[in-house]
Amino acid sequence: MSFIGTYILEISYIIASVLFILGLKMLSHPVTARRGNLLAAFGMTFAIIATILWHRHNGTRIHNVGYIIAAIAAGLVVGWLIAVKVKMTAMPQLVSFFNGMGGACAALISLMEFPCLGGETHLANMLHGEVLAIIVAMVIGSVSFTGSMIAFGKLDGRIHDWKSPVVRIINIIFLVVIVALAIFVMSRGQVDPRSEMIWMYLLLGIALVYGIFFVMPIGGADMPVVISLLNSFTGVAAAMGGFLYDNQAMLTGGILVGSAGTILTVLMCKAMNRSLGNVILGAFGGSSGSAENDVDGHIKEITLSDASVLLNYSQKVVIIPGYGLAAAQAQHICSELDEMLTNRGVDVKYAIHPVAGRMPGHMNVLLAEADVPYEKLVEMENINPAMPNVDVAVVIGANDVVNPAALDDPCSPIYGMPIINAHEAKNIIVMKRGMGKGYAAIENNLFYHDKTRMLFGNAKDTLQSLVGEIKNL
Ligand code: TAP
Repeated sequence: MSFIGTYILEISYIIASVLFILGLKMLSHPVTARRGNLLAAFGMTFAIIATILWHRHNGTRIHNVGYIIAAIAAGLVVGWLIAVKVKMTAMPQLVSFFNGMGGACAALISLMEFPCLGGETHLANMLHGEVLAIIVAMVIGSVSFTGSMIAFGKLDGRIHDWKSPVVRIINIIFLVVIVALAIFVMSRGQVDPRSEMIWMYLLLGIALVYGIFFVMPIGGADMPVVISLLNSFTGVAAAMGGFLYDNQAMLTGGILVGSAGTILTVLMCKAMNRSLGNVILGAFGGSSGSAENDVDGHIKEITLSDASVLLNYSQKVVIIPGYGLAAAQAQHICSELDEMLTNRGVDVKYAIHPVAGRMPGHMNVLLAEADVPYEKLVEMENINPAMPNVDVAVVIGANDVVNPAALDDPCSPIYGMPIINAHEAKNIIVMKRGMGKGYAAIENNLFYHDKTRMLFGNAKDTLQSLVGEIKNL
């Protein structure tokens, strides 16, 4: 029985791993994302049930099954309620919070597995690799936990940045102390188990505090990148758990989260034309050092009635949404404008920049919430070649992602960042409240361009008025 049970368990883990991989693949497209999520969740449920049924340790099955089921049920209810209630705009906070919980789990598992708590007598009974896996998982999980909680607080507006050169020095000291302590713990052999545990608790405490100090100085608007980075940390910590337990499902799940988080972090940095070090050291994004470039030209405004006529009699219109659309919660009225123009024979598309807004896929999520059909959303690299044939580019609350300085000003901090070529359209209408700068805190020549007309005001109000005007045409 035991042999067959082990065999079934291993097969179950492989099936669960395949389901995770398929689920992740399906998450890459909005049409399949929902099913992908369910598939991965099914894989996880399958792995949990298989573990409860067939896992054996020294011939004995898992104890405390009642507690395990009760904990899963409690987590399920709480998680479900939070996820159902959360507003779309608060999604980054929620992701950060859930990620922190994953880090905490990995840290606690490692702590429990350390010899004294795990029931074994001393460190010497464990292989060096096992001790290393425990320490790495505990440190990374703890950093991920407290770091994610700080990121959650920042995104929720409860915690503010704490930028100081002192914090960076403290962080370097923390890192050195963590590495030194880890080497110290690993090098200890047959010593009193209790004193070994004291060092582990010390390491845990320092890692938890380091997580706070690591995220505190990073600019609030950089939080999506940081969350993605912390997410990859949690994945690595979980993968270490997989090594410890010789559990393929945990290992695969951890590696998938770790690598997906790392790839996303790299892609976000690339799309912003910044290095990860630059994000972590906060040399960009709203504080000092923002480049003010000289701007030629004048601001020209357009009236609502002129804008409505221009749009109504156009053939091709491209809407370029940005952070301001999300801030104004104008997605529904934007979709109404699109529908109205489409019904009048105008070809309306949305140009989606990979880092428009403040989180990956921000614009896709926002527009999906307003039931904009997926096929109308066109990725930057696909829409750019068509821009010269576009009659009107309507920029709604976007700034950096349409800033031509990224193409032609080598001194600009965003130079090299790919942008949506709004400036190539025949006419450009920009909706924003005033001349406020974007996330990169730099001027935008597009607003002074000959072809550009500004439509000032809160995006939601402006769009509402515009829809009213077009109705009357
Ligand atoms: P931004 O460059 O941040 O510009 C947003 C513009 O929206 C502002 O200039 C602001 O001008 C306007 N705005 C704000 N509230 C508004 C409202 N209620 N109604 C109308 N307009 C409003 O946005 P973007 O073009 O989407 O670029 C995103 C930036 O964030 C990039 O620099 C990107 O690198 C960075 N970033 C993105 C991510 C991800 S993953 N998406 C992560 C971190 C950083 P007014 O004040 O004049 O209205």
